[in-house]
Amino acid sequence: MQLAGRIRNAPPYPFAALNQTVASLRAQGRRVISLGVGDPDTPPPARAYVELRSWAERAEMHRYPDYAGAGAYRAAVAAYYRRRFGVALDPEREVVGLIGSKEGLAHLMWALVEEGDAVLVPDPAYPVYAAQARFAGAEPVPLPLLPAQRFLPDLDAVPADVAARARVLVLCYPNAPTAALADGEFFRRALAFGRRHDLVVVNDAAYADVILEGERPPSLLAFAQPGDMAVEFYSLSKTYHVTGWRLAAAVGAPAVLDGLRAMKENTDSGQWTPLQMAGAALLEDASLDAYVARENERLRARRDRLMAALTAAGLNPSLPRATLYVWCPVPDGDDAAFAQRLLTETGVLVTPGRAFGAAGAGFVRLSLSVPDDELAEACDRIASFSP
Ligand SMILES: Cc1ncc(COP(=O)(O)O)c(C=O)c1O
Repeated sequence: MQLAGRIRNAPPYPFAALNQTVASLRAQGRRVISLGVGDPDTPPPARAYVELRSWAERAEMHRYPDYAGAGAYRAAVAAYYRRRFGVALDPEREVVGLIGSKEGLAHLMWALVEEGDAVLVPDPAYPVYAAQARFAGAEPVPLPLLPAQRFLPDLDAVPADVAARARVLVLCYPNAPTAALADGEFFRRALAFGRRHDLVVVNDAAYADVILEGERPPSLLAFAQPGDMAVEFYSLSKTYHVTGWRLAAAVGAPAVLDGLRAMKENTDSGQWTPLQMAGAALLEDASLDAYVARENERLRARRDRLMAALTAAGLNPSLPRATLYVWCPVPDGDDAAFAQRLLTETGVLVTPGRAFGAAGAGFVRLSLSVPDDELAEACDRIASFSP
């Protein structure tokens, strides 16, 4: 038996590899604190349990769900976009329910690109964009996100021949792993670039509500003009601490979403309806803004603690205003060696920046999604580390 070339030639998924490293060190008796993955450690709002339980008890809920997402779920996503972003969406044509944004991003790539196409992906980035572009036969072309450009891609630097082949521009703001934010002016430029080159502009907004300070950032769709091929991915994972539920939505241009829906109809059968109904209740409940604010406050305190420890160790990270991450440059630019030495000498695991792409080299990413006591211990260990 031989696996397909697309899998044989694929790099290992970085976070699966990190999980394995942690498991094997723990098996050797090491007390490892992982600041690797971003996966909220505190519970979802109490209402999540109540809703899920009550929907799960209805017999009719155990049949196949609607392919495009339950109507009530799509309506709740549209209502949320109106309340949170001031964006009006038609739940029938402009919202598709997803089994997490990872699933949606993957299927969107398959719906949009093929052999010979280019996909413009940020670098560093969530590895799924490039992996799925490659699986679908296209070439992912990295757009470096550099500190000097506030981690925004330089769209003017995309060579004309690449722009001509490109079918998709992927953005991710609030950005992981750099924690950068994009403003309306950048979104307008990206949409104009999409119009000029006839490509789909996608914003992965998984961290839209993980905002540690300052104003809540806008949606890409708030700047789209009629006819723009713009799509955004919104996820409940990090807003409501339900990463395991697998619940998200793609919203925006109907022509693009038609392709995504067709891809999904042939691949999956949608998310379990009680999860969608419980998710709809969370999105519609404006009083849960207080839950989100409280969780963000908790993250801000953790961020400040981690920033202090990194500074005490002689490192110089810039202050993240959003996401679950601190993106920290390492002194001699060798992020892999730094992460290895930090792990060996202190038992603290961080992700080397190059796991997110070549332009991530020289940085490490530290996640804030670990319980307070573990983070405090990790901070003590980091503060006494000599980089
Ligand atoms: C940038 C980014 N996009 C998407 C996702 C996946 O989100 P979901 O849980 O909705 O699949 C993650 C998960 O960590 C992420 O970091």
